[in-house]
Amino acid sequence: MQRMRIPIDREATVPLYKQVEVALRSGISAGTLAPGTRLPATRALAADLGVSRITVTNAYAELERDGLIEGIVGSGTVVMAASFGHVGRPTDPPPDWPSWQQRLQQDRQDDGPEDRLEGPNPPLQDDAARPEAISFTGVGDLRLLSTRDLGRTIHDVLRADGVAALGYGDLGAGHPQLRTTIARVLAAQGIATSGERVLVTSGSQQGLALACQVLLRPDDPVLVEQPSYDHALRLFVHLRCRVIGVPMDDDGMRVELVEDLVRKHRPGLIYTVPTFHNPTGTCLPARRRRDLLAVAARHDVPIVEDDFTGDLRYEGRTQPAVKALDQNGSVIHLGSFAKLLAPGLRIGYLVADGPVFGRLTAAKQALDLTTSPLLQRVVDRIVTVGRYQSHLRRTTRLYRRRRDAMSEALAREMPDCAVGLPAGGLFLWVRLPEGVSARALARAGARTGVVVTPGHRFFTDPTAGDGYIRLNFATRTENEIHDGITRLGQAMMQLVDAHDQLPG
Ligand SMILES: Cc1ncc(COP(=O)(O)O)c(C=O)c1O
Repeated sequence: MQRMRIPIDREATVPLYKQVEVALRSGISAGTLAPGTRLPATRALAADLGVSRITVTNAYAELERDGLIEGIVGSGTVVMAASFGHVGRPTDPPPDWPSWQQRLQQDRQDDGPEDRLEGPNPPLQDDAARPEAISFTGVGDLRLLSTRDLGRTIHDVLRADGVAALGYGDLGAGHPQLRTTIARVLAAQGIATSGERVLVTSGSQQGLALACQVLLRPDDPVLVEQPSYDHALRLFVHLRCRVIGVPMDDDGMRVELVEDLVRKHRPGLIYTVPTFHNPTGTCLPARRRRDLLAVAARHDVPIVEDDFTGDLRYEGRTQPAVKALDQNGSVIHLGSFAKLLAPGLRIGYLVADGPVFGRLTAAKQALDLTTSPLLQRVVDRIVTVGRYQSHLRRTTRLYRRRRDAMSEALAREMPDCAVGLPAGGLFLWVRLPEGVSARALARAGARTGVVVTPGHRFFTDPTAGDGYIRLNFATRTENEIHDGITRLGQAMMQLVDAHDQLPG
């Protein structure tokens, strides 16, 4: 057992043995003293703390009386596995938070804006952590990534760059080589830029957070597609912005409605996912992209374009990114390697022109100094050696087959649902038959081991979206898709039957 540091206040009126006891008790409660941990011998701890041995013996005796620790012959004093249930004694007073903590607690109870966005699923699904469930959530299929290759690339980077890869690196806008590489990837997608206009971010979520920080003030309205990406909504609500939804149709945002909404609400920014929208899968036609840009320019409103899966097209003509049409710095373009490599690398980027770029870079540095220089180098190497392009081609072929498999399975197992076939991306947006609640279906699905995302998560209005579920078709094999949709179909039948049997 290593030495323990327990803060002892010799001036306090609380007896020393009590101070030792409380410190150990809270360590056990927090799990930092896990079950099985051996506590120091009383003599050693007393010497460490500069107290008498009887002080430590008394503290241990209190904890032992509560079953939190036990003296075991040959092992010394050990934290007990069964202790978690009764760590805090019923007579312990509630924690006496300082007033600034109490105010935060009160704020949350008063309006709890984030709570409105909570659904039955945890905010982020970690599929890798629940391999037994068939989960139609998440982003790409992480199983396509060779961890051996990734390990080798990390090794190669460390061999080539040595400890330089482990410092803070370039505290500017990111690793210069990666920024140039990103500019090249974007050139292939029609965005003419240079590495100097690219800021590396910790995922595109940070790009969005930075844009909000630079462009918005509390209470500012934000125009978004309705429905919209749940974690973007969460961010806007967290920042206490007012979210104004723009209705959508099969071609994405109804841009013809935007001008009136802009006039009425004067938004601080327009957030859009024009290409293979999350959750609906729609792709905004070029004409609407131009119109959106024109409205934004007329009314001097910045556009934040989230291009989270722009590369993942399965058929049809590519559409230019809104940023590719932007002549005067109206658009901040967000991208990410989360979908095609791995979200856990947390490497995203943004492209912006004009004075806003410097502001975004300063905000990034102020918030987290830099994105991991090691992982920036790793991603740069993966992309430049051409593995990225072959990985992209392979992934696109595979996801397309999975999209088709899911669409067929839905037509067979859940024929009363309405669902379009997106030309790219990751998601099917499924309209449930009249009277079937997505929340109820998500719960029923989870009971049979199928995880889906209920539609209300993509709206800020808690009463909206309950007629839809979002299914990710990319993360599961075709067999898993057939199995999962069959089970989901059965769960839905039971809900429909139960509904039909309701009196009236
Ligand atoms: C529309 C959209 N934007 C951004 C993200 C977040 O990407 P990142 O992991 O790069 O922060 C996601 C993740 O699913 C997404 O769907």
